[in-house]
Amino acid sequence: MSERWTPDSWRNKPVVQVPEYPDAKALADVEAQLATFPPLVFAGEARNLKKALGRVAAGEAFLLQGGDCAESFAEHGANNIRDFFRVFLQMAVVLTYAGSLPVVKVGRIAGQFAKPRSSPVEKANGIELPSYRGDIVNDIAFTAEARTPDPQRQMMAYRQSAATLNLLRAFASGGFANLASVNQWMLGFLKDSPQSRRYTELADRITDALNFMRACGLEFDSHPELRTTDFYTSHEALLLGYEQALTRVDSTTGDWYATSGHMIWIGDRTRQLDHAHVEYFRGINNPIGLKCGPSLKPDELIKLIDVLNPQDEPGRLTLIARFGSDKVGDHLPALIRAVQREGRKVVWSCDPMHGNTITATSGYKTRPFDRILSEVRSFFAIHAAEGTHAGGVHLEMTGKDVTECIGGARALTDEDLNDRYHTVCDPRLNAEQSIDMAFLIAELLKQERAGKIKPLPAASGM
Ligand code: TRP
Ligand code: MN
Repeated sequence: MSERWTPDSWRNKPVVQVPEYPDAKALADVEAQLATFPPLVFAGEARNLKKALGRVAAGEAFLLQGGDCAESFAEHGANNIRDFFRVFLQMAVVLTYAGSLPVVKVGRIAGQFAKPRSSPVEKANGIELPSYRGDIVNDIAFTAEARTPDPQRQMMAYRQSAATLNLLRAFASGGFANLASVNQWMLGFLKDSPQSRRYTELADRITDALNFMRACGLEFDSHPELRTTDFYTSHEALLLGYEQALTRVDSTTGDWYATSGHMIWIGDRTRQLDHAHVEYFRGINNPIGLKCGPSLKPDELIKLIDVLNPQDEPGRLTLIARFGSDKVGDHLPALIRAVQREGRKVVWSCDPMHGNTITATSGYKTRPFDRILSEVRSFFAIHAAEGTHAGGVHLEMTGKDVTECIGGARALTDEDLNDRYHTVCDPRLNAEQSIDMAFLIAELLKQERAGKIKPLPAASGM
């Protein structure tokens, strides 16, 4: 791995989960054109996020990362983005208030288009077609034409990412995220639910505190931190040709950065040490994530850390544990101990979604809210036992009132899934379930701060 790195050095390595484009020339043309387009994010922003994540690694902040499993071209609208952002802000405010910790806000958005698949082909009605790999690659419709990878889709994904990011930047700094509006972020369809009452209570307390500080003479105009927030973007950087085209040298430092999003991560299926994805990621200077599933051995993890974060830079590497509520207790402690033994600085985050996916009797893919929560609880309990910081969560969620995960305060059942099952990929927490989850995590954070997390058996018994 000590060989020279270039933005295209990954091309000499074995690679998995890549689409087969029928026309290599058309693909090369698109990549060449993308390489001339403006970067979506700036290196300085990625460095700020790395600094913020460094504080998470040190136990001084909490990471909230979330968004769609996969963004889609069809659902690209201002209302969707606004509703997502509003729920995300509510979750952030709940966690900040209850945990008394700064929350690092990272959306799984403005670039989350490419999906790894368990099989390269899908069979239905006696026909076999290429699997759907996300809107940046092909179309979800089950026809030969729709499923043929089309490079032009990368242009669409770039433009959609730019438009989404533009609106998010405006929301984050243009007044929408003002803490003085904390009472207005409640969504219409959440009124009169236990979550909305609980949220309104918390928002009232924040408003009281702000009014008190104002009465004491605090000038809000001279405190932009009350009116704006730092919101970052992230996605799984699976489609390396697209990523390479957006990899640029930062003129202020001379370092390479991925400019497709602030943070990018390596999936659990593409983290082979000698493969293309690890090769690409080692050379860029962004904060990066690594998904860690049940097949990852502790010594393998240490080798990956050596390659991906040789300088042991805090905030560079976020380990995103995704084991399943029944497996996290068997796997996570050994990984934490290996990292501690080597004295490496990482952010530990919990993805409680991907290890808890089941097929309901209705045939829908779903995730029981209780199992998601159970994995989060175990995650906190394990970190408390190991003396490490439960640094964050990584959620698949939406601001919409969908019915994709069962359970939660409204106790959605298998039969309800058919009502509003809209995801193009994995089932997401809906707005209400997301806020519910934020309150439950806030409680755990508060206990962690007070040194009162219960040991694992009690925690996983729920
Ligand atoms: N700037 C602070 C932060 O981002 C406070 C803040 C402003 C905030 N608007 C917010 C916190 C919205 C959460 C949600 O933490
Ligand atoms: Mn997913």
